[in-house]
Amino acid sequence: AFAQMKMDDMSGMGHDMAAPPQSAVALPEGEALRDLSRLANEASTPGLFRAKLTAESATMRFAEGLDTPILGYNGTSPGPLIEAVEGDRVEITFANRIPDEASTIHWHGMPVPADQDGNPMDPVATGIDRTYSFDLPEGSAGSYWYHPHPHGKTAEQVYRGLAGAFVVKPKVDPIPAAYGDTVLVFTDLRLAADGTLPGNTMVDLMNGRVGDHVLVNGQKNPALTVPFGTKRRFRLYNATNARFLRLSFDGAPITIIGTDGGLLEAPVAADDILLSPAERLDLIVSFDKPGPVTLYTLDYDRGWMGAGRPADAGLTLLTAHVSQTPAEPVPPLPDMLRPIARLDAPSVSRRFVFTETMAMNANGMEMGFLINGATFDMNRVDTVAKAGEVELWEIVNKADMDHPFHVHGTQFQVVEYERGGKVRKPAYRAWKDTVNVARGETVRLLLRQDRPGPRMYHCHILEHEQLGMMGIVDVQA
Ligand code: C2O
Ligand code: CU
Ligand code: CU
Repeated sequence: AFAQMKMDDMSGMGHDMAAPPQSAVALPEGEALRDLSRLANEASTPGLFRAKLTAESATMRFAEGLDTPILGYNGTSPGPLIEAVEGDRVEITFANRIPDEASTIHWHGMPVPADQDGNPMDPVATGIDRTYSFDLPEGSAGSYWYHPHPHGKTAEQVYRGLAGAFVVKPKVDPIPAAYGDTVLVFTDLRLAADGTLPGNTMVDLMNGRVGDHVLVNGQKNPALTVPFGTKRRFRLYNATNARFLRLSFDGAPITIIGTDGGLLEAPVAADDILLSPAERLDLIVSFDKPGPVTLYTLDYDRGWMGAGRPADAGLTLLTAHVSQTPAEPVPPLPDMLRPIARLDAPSVSRRFVFTETMAMNANGMEMGFLINGATFDMNRVDTVAKAGEVELWEIVNKADMDHPFHVHGTQFQVVEYERGGKVRKPAYRAWKDTVNVARGETVRLLLRQDRPGPRMYHCHILEHEQLGMMGIVDVQA
């Protein structure tokens, strides 16, 4: 049941357990924040979103004079921003042009049928086109994303550049349009001196790959200018393989208005926020006085195995220059955003225990990332559920590292967190598809799968997913 790895099988890592060398490559900072490219709708029929996404080799210039070979959707990384409206039908043709590798597109967090969800069981071979189609039901507005999910290759294809944001807008948005709606996709770049992306080391496999530069929409510490007295809406995406982002805006108050699966019931003020890998937050930031305001990282200890825990505090991710010119007055944020019906009365309760095993022996390193004692097997169903029934899932982290838990096909509600016998309730009711389960913590959540078929659940540290910290729930009609 373990991922047995021989040191020699792992290219480029030698027998060195130390952290990968920190890149000496400097990236330009302070350039104006670019808008993400958008995926154009090719359909002229109202209510239909039709487009093509090609996964292919591409080149990016992150550092002066260095060309970096990457994988991009339609040639870019992050991939183009997809924006549709609830009620829309979506038909996206995926052209896999990744040299020699199968892939899929997984619609992370979206309510799509199981056979359209880009599962590892449904690979798209290189050279093949495959159309994914699904309807976006009423009430499905939220901040979703898309990324590959092929067996054993997800982590690598994502760090090589394949990930993009998919925003589903409500028919009527309670958030004032004057705040804008800016998507900020965080990725984590490691760049070798020759401009290439180094492969994963043993330390990366244990901890998940953490890069040297956190990028926002592909740029390091980009800048934007805003007038003072205004408010801005930002959708934050943690699209990194494994980096936990505890963030604050210095001197600019943050209000959380939404999570992975859309708006909260009411806005919630926050000092700082934690975005674990794959989580999203919809925020309003108030720029109340002139001067620079930075979005920067605070320390967060998520547990680290082996040497070389990367520095995570004090990185500046984004700089807003708040000008002296006062803004046109903007409308206030409404007090109520939308109702969220509480999931209740679970018909079954299940327990998922996350553990790690790690041992050095003559053959190399034996490493296991397990759920209920097993690593992932595509041909095994771990859990059988019934469509339409509410279930209570208890995610128990007995490991010494945080593991962000994610389940496909639905959104859930966190009920409580428990650590050392102390129970804590979440600060607000919300729809989420990913929740961090801290070391030694248990998270209880309620969920209901409405569509039949096999669904994956896994740790969203993608190297852990690759090493088997994943299972299948088969939802029966
Ligand atoms: Cu974003 Cu199964 O993942
Ligand atoms: Cu997912
Ligand atoms: Cu994990």
